[in-house]
Amino acid sequence: MSHEGPLAGLHVVIDAGPTYEDIDPVRFLGNRSSGKMGFAIAAAAVAAGAEVTLIAGPVALATPAGVARRIDVRSALQMRDAVLQAVEGADIFIATAAVADWRVAEYSSRKIKKGPSGAPVLELVENPDILAEVAARDPRPFVVGFAAETDHVLENGRKKLERKKLDMLAANHVGENVGIGSDDNALDLIWPGGGESLPRAAKPELAKTLVARIAARYRAQARA
Ligand code: C5P
Repeated sequence: MSHEGPLAGLHVVIDAGPTYEDIDPVRFLGNRSSGKMGFAIAAAAVAAGAEVTLIAGPVALATPAGVARRIDVRSALQMRDAVLQAVEGADIFIATAAVADWRVAEYSSRKIKKGPSGAPVLELVENPDILAEVAARDPRPFVVGFAAETDHVLENGRKKLERKKLDMLAANHVGENVGIGSDDNALDLIWPGGGESLPRAAKPELAKTLVARIAARYRAQARA
């Protein structure tokens, strides 16, 4: 933590990357999230003076310099436990993780074998919504969510902001070479009563702008 910068003196918790939902000892359900956006935001938050806790799903990324603590998890349930513990007393929570929406109802401790009865049918159950759970806490940190959208980005984003009771939502354009898994991103920022489009840029650059906007909104809200 530094004594200078727009986030000086603040504890920021960031979750990042995908979650893997194990089916048996060798198979899992996953997604294409690389964690790059969340890690870039962690680096930008450190540069802005914050004490940063980074909770990472399975990613192949080095911890950005200056991150106070990194907690590695695998599944959505593990990520939930780590986040709920870390946000205790934290000032800002930024949920960039692509948390799996579903996990298998019953994990098989033995490898599922091919057999004469054909392909297995996997029963799925819904994972808890970590972001909504943090936003429902009282007291709660300033809460920033992400949303990957292919269509009606602003309209869907605004609905999500209200439904999950967020302080800010960063809506991701998902498409060719932009968004999930890629090096570039573009974001539509939405907050209650306002918004701003951040044009396509490399993730580290975009992360700096995003962190500056989060700091400004956080300070504005603290003054209100
Ligand atoms: O509703 P949707 O999955 O599009 O919301 C995305 C946002 O919610 C992201 O910030 C993501 O990190 C968060 N999320 C979560 N827990 C889930 C699903 C999404 O924290 N189970």
